[in-house]
Amino acid sequence: MLLDHSSLSKSGAEISRIGDPVFHGNTFLFIEDIINKKAPHKVFAVLREGKIAGFLILSTVLDEAEIIEVAVSENMRRKGIASELMDEVCEWCAKNGIAQIFLEVRESNFPARAYYKKYGFAEDGIRKNYYPDPVENAVLMSKKLP
Ligand SMILES: CC(C)(COP(=O)(O)OP(=O)(O)OC[C@H]1O[C@@H](n2cnc3c(N)ncnc32)[C@H](O)[C@@H]1OP(=O)(O)O)[C@@H](O)C(=O)NCCC(=O)NCCS
Repeated sequence: MLLDHSSLSKSGAEISRIGDPVFHGNTFLFIEDIINKKAPHKVFAVLREGKIAGFLILSTVLDEAEIIEVAVSENMRRKGIASELMDEVCEWCAKNGIAQIFLEVRESNFPARAYYKKYGFAEDGIRKNYYPDPVENAVLMSKKLP
């Protein structure tokens, strides 16, 4: 589901607990900016037994969207949660006039690359040494919506 401002304020800490170990503390910073209305990103979440099991942060500009972060709680992976998130995000994008979705992913992140490929994202190129800590290339991917 797409979280509104009040749900995000309540579940921000839960989302950060999932994202921060993977994204080096950036999830907390993004969520804080969104709650404080400094960033207009949208946050989608999937719940299991009333708790956040996975989230996806989406940024949109005109008819383009970018997946900023997506992560699933470590003990909940390979159960279709990221798939549920992507189905919802693609549906939301199609309804909201988005023509193309972009993202970047670490070259060594094979689970995520397989996930995006399964959802029809094409690999468009490489951005050399894009990520710090450890330094690594980014793979640029995109998907056109019908
Ligand atoms: C990538 C990630 C979001 C996938 O979440 P998930 O809920 O486990 O994914 P799903 O169960 O919905 O799987 C969807 C598809 O992703 C791919 N996939 C997911 N995990 C995989 C793995 N460990 N190895 C290979 N493919 C994998 C498969 O294609 C899978 O489809 P299948 O089950 O039909 O084979 C999850 O591994 C994660 O949170 N990783 C850490 C954060 C991250 O790397 N985010 C992306 C940064 S750009």
